[in-house]
Amino acid sequence: MAYKQFILVCGGTGCESSKADDIFRELHAQADAQGVGDEVQIVKTGCFGFCEKGPIVKVLPAESFYVEVKPGDAKEIISEQIIKGREVNRLLYKDDHKKDRLKVEDIDFYQKQYRIVLRNCGIINPENIDEYRPLRRCFFP
Ligand code: FES
Repeated sequence: MAYKQFILVCGGTGCESSKADDIFRELHAQADAQGVGDEVQIVKTGCFGFCEKGPIVKVLPAESFYVEVKPGDAKEIISEQIIKGREVNRLLYKDDHKKDRLKVEDIDFYQKQYRIVLRNCGIINPENIDEYRPLRRCFFP
């Protein structure tokens, strides 16, 4: 099945301890309830490296980077972004001095990082290496 949109839910320890598993389940439940369960692939990934802002959820190909997500946000992520194509603005990460929406690679926190092992997190499924999502990598072009 060729999905057009992907929701990556951080499954790292920090985010898991802040209900990422509940977010993952609720996103699936909402996608099914809103009739788009077959149109969006929802996967867990490794740590995005920004644990203090977790739980992290990223939507591709829009590159929406949501922080401090709660299970109750799943309904809006599905209805607004997946169905209507509008980002959930209140969940987007914003630096204090950069008020606009930021791409992940523009976030100050990531400027001095060079990810190697988790460079393709969310793009390659470690449990099925043949399943490759032909989208941009999570972090750096
Ligand atoms: S555990 Fe989610 S960003 Fe690190």
